Amino acid sequence: MNRLFKYLVESTALVACSLASAQEWQPGTDYTVKEIMNAMVQPATDILWNPSPDFDDMGNPLLPTDEEGLNRLRWAAINLGASATAMNAPDQLVDVPGTPAPDETVLSADEMNALKQQQYGTWVAFSRQLELLAAEYEAAIEAGDSEAFGWSDGALGSKMNNICTACHTVFWCPNAPAPY
Ligand code: HEC
Repeated sequence: MNRLFKYLVESTALVACSLASAQEWQPGTDYTVKEIMNAMVQPATDILWNPSPDFDDMGNPLLPTDEEGLNRLRWAAINLGASATAMNAPDQLVDVPGTPAPDETVLSADEMNALKQQQYGTWVAFSRQLELLAAEYEAAIEAGDSEAFGWSDGALGSKMNNICTACHTVFWCPNAPAPY
């Protein structure tokens, strides 16, 4: 009986503790930008950057022709376009407050959260570029345009890479080359 009582007291204290921090950030409902990057942006780009293991003689990926394969690409493009909205709320946090920077090349959560507030217009402009790019991917999928999926200058693969790196350089790692 005593042990059960002790357990109840301890778990009540734990609940009280998590409620206090939940006033600033609600895990599971207030998605951070970091969560959107891992859950939406990166999986979508993995598919759009590597739409097929096979290439034509020009080095362009051979796009799938079956509905299942095409839907996989379409849904990746939709995921990318929707991620722009999912990372755009004015008061949305980039990462959980108090999270330290893993090393000196990147900003801490508090620095990134403040920077996003200060330069919100720039933030929205970058995410809008992702949204427009997703629409270009959708058009290329419908047109069966495999060249657009290549990496030559102006092709969507390199365009996407430039957008990711540009935003990362401003908001994540201004002191070092961005890893993505
Ligand atoms: C509007 C700005 C913006 C755009 C555009 C953007 N990112 Fe990010 N991304 C960030 C910020 C800020 C972080 C740092 C978040 C963190 O790790 O705390 C980040 C972090 C990441 C991470 C690391 C997540 C982690 O667990 O640390 C990955 C992976 C990533 N981005 C992929 C991409 C890719 C791929 C693209 C392009 C398709 C992209 N991002 C476009 C702002 C952006």
